[in-house]
Amino acid sequence: MRMDTTRQRGKHCQYKFLTLVCVASGLAIWVVISYQFLVRSIIPFLRLVLAPSSSGEVKVFTWRNKFPSVDNMHTFFDRGDAMLAAVLMAISMQLSNEEAGGFLLAHININKNLWRRLIRTLAFIRMTVRANSAERTQIIAWLNRIHSNISLFRFETNTFILATIAYALAKAHQSLGCAADVELDAVVSAIMSMADKINLEDRGKQVPSSLKEVEKYLSTQVTFQSPAMAKTFEYTLGLSHVTKSSSKTQETSITARTFFRRPWAWVKLFLLRQLAVEICYSVLFPKRPALSLSVARLLQPLWYHLHYNMCPQALTLDGLFDLLIACEPSLEEAVHSVYVEVLGEEHAARTVEAVQNAPGRTMRAHLPHIGSHSAGDTRWDFASPSLEEAVTEHLTCSFYRARLSSSGRKLPQHLGVIMDGNRRYSKDNHLGSVVDGHQVGARKLLQFMSWSFSAGINNVTLWALSDDNLKRGSDELGPLFTMMTGYINEMLAGNTPIAIINIRFRVVGDRSLLPEKLRRAVEVAENSTQHNRSFNLQLALGYGGRAEVVRAVKEAVKRRVRDESITTEEAVEQLSATDVTKHVYSAELGLPEIDAILRTSGEKRLSGFALWESHAAELCFVERHWPNMKQSDFLRSIMDLSERKRRYGA
Ligand SMILES: *[C@@H]1O[C@H](CO)[C@@H](O)[C@H](O)[C@H]1NC(C)=O
Ligand SMILES: *[C@@H]1O[C@H](CO)[C@@H](O)[C@H](O)[C@H]1NC(C)=O
Ligand SMILES: *[C@@H]1O[C@H](CO)[C@@H](O)[C@H](O)[C@H]1NC(C)=O
Ligand SMILES: *[C@@H]1O[C@H](CO)[C@@H](O)[C@H](O)[C@H]1NC(C)=O
Repeated sequence: MRMDTTRQRGKHCQYKFLTLVCVASGLAIWVVISYQFLVRSIIPFLRLVLAPSSSGEVKVFTWRNKFPSVDNMHTFFDRGDAMLAAVLMAISMQLSNEEAGGFLLAHININKNLWRRLIRTLAFIRMTVRANSAERTQIIAWLNRIHSNISLFRFETNTFILATIAYALAKAHQSLGCAADVELDAVVSAIMSMADKINLEDRGKQVPSSLKEVEKYLSTQVTFQSPAMAKTFEYTLGLSHVTKSSSKTQETSITARTFFRRPWAWVKLFLLRQLAVEICYSVLFPKRPALSLSVARLLQPLWYHLHYNMCPQALTLDGLFDLLIACEPSLEEAVHSVYVEVLGEEHAARTVEAVQNAPGRTMRAHLPHIGSHSAGDTRWDFASPSLEEAVTEHLTCSFYRARLSSSGRKLPQHLGVIMDGNRRYSKDNHLGSVVDGHQVGARKLLQFMSWSFSAGINNVTLWALSDDNLKRGSDELGPLFTMMTGYINEMLAGNTPIAIINIRFRVVGDRSLLPEKLRRAVEVAENSTQHNRSFNLQLALGYGGRAEVVRAVKEAVKRRVRDESITTEEAVEQLSATDVTKHVYSAELGLPEIDAILRTSGEKRLSGFALWESHAAELCFVERHWPNMKQSDFLRSIMDLSERKRRYGA
């Protein structure tokens, strides 16, 4: 921070003085306002940290700053501070590459108005991330259209530009210590997969797709720590001072007048930018001691809290947009114009309106299309947590994630989940019908998958519908089946928030009980995801544990009769437990045995779930109904399971 302000001294003396005054007074006000809140959200956390451990081990609390967790994978693209850092970093890398840099400077007039450039880039990324598959096609068409006459716009350049963005985004999160390696790789690979889609002729070309590969690739294109990098970074930074923010027609620099019009917004932006700059330094110039980044990292609870108090959409890209526009209202037009260029006037108006009016705006914005097109009503959103709840939840999750990532923990290889409580949730919350509860439950499922992916559990079987449930009235089942079909199709189209994870989807249970339309959707999904490897998702539909065992026994007998040419009676005589084990669903799908089972809604029964495998599985129970389940509940269960495994583990 100090180096930076020294550099600007002289140039921005007035600016510096004003910001210092404002930072100081802002902090003072903030401390006074939030004192009570801080006490209320920190105390439960301290209780958790200080509580005696059930296993008698000494608790070592290693702070890993994992808490603005990747609650759903899109959060990656939605952290305002990391995103700002990433965009600054990516532009610096692009400019320091001779070929691409020259082309960019000539092509986009970067030095005329960087903030306009920046907010357009951010808007473009937000649009891409939240688009459904049809809109994504439009975006790619637009990219082609505007670049059709530019000779440098070819596969190699696309790859380079995407690589800088992917790398910057992943590294920004890594510097903040808030993402696991699997998450970083998933995000990098999702961004890089765009490279071969922009031009039809590039289909199937190889691109670097993990963080390691991208890092290696970039090291052939740019030199970190080099004087050239320092120069371009300085250039980018100089521009990124909002002192140059301007509308199309007039240059305005920050004066006491503009400052005092919105002092609070300027202070926020200053702090946010300062953090972004430190993140950039730590990645682009790793040898430079980034003292303030360490401090920021250490003080993440405070940072988080600060953001949450300051920006309506704490730490989010939306929060950043609000902030930039509050500082410089003319930037709103820049955001709007990108939407209009890409999606057309009418669509842009609808999108902007939807984003502005949605309650609990951030979560809603992540799920723009599920429900509205195919899966029924979207009235029932996740309840937005209160500020205290949110901060406590984040602190708690950070604690669990840090402990889970400490060595010696044995995670479940295959987690079975009984998703219980959708109906009771509907009743408790006075939702119109049970189907609304299922709707919220289905979204929870998407979240749940990202939680378990981030925690390193990538084989999960979820019990959605038992064979007994299928006896329920058709007024509940009909809409439920329609909703499931809708979700499966949306997943295939890549429209769900977890599309970044490479999921292999399969269904276990008696399919003949399912309606034709759903059965077909399932089959198509199974076929088209059969090569995906990052995550095995099994949905148990029309499933019953006893039916599974009966089926496994029958299959085992048939197998013996066929393989050994013996009579059925002899086969029955020779049948062993091992034979049956080979024919339960998990084994038939080539997965490890279900070794842990989680049930929500406070019921302490298994109701036959994984009847055969439950013989050796560890169990854990969560009190909350499934639609209410929190990430901290999940992580607590996993920690509990991993501790038991350590004590009794085979
Ligand atoms: C590309 O060039 C063609 C003629 O060569 C011109 O008609 C068209 O407007 C140009 N497109 C863009 C986006 O500049
Ligand atoms: C998940 O199952 C696959 C087999 O399909 C296995 O290779 C992998 O190790 C399992 N994952 C975990 C975390 O045990
Ligand atoms: C599964 O992999 C295919 C390519 O094999 C990919 O197109 C698809 O997006 C993946 N699906 C999911 C849900 O990850
Ligand atoms: C899925 O694949 C199987 C076997 O490869 C094939 O028999 C079946 O027709 C396919 N189903 C669909 C809906 O594509």
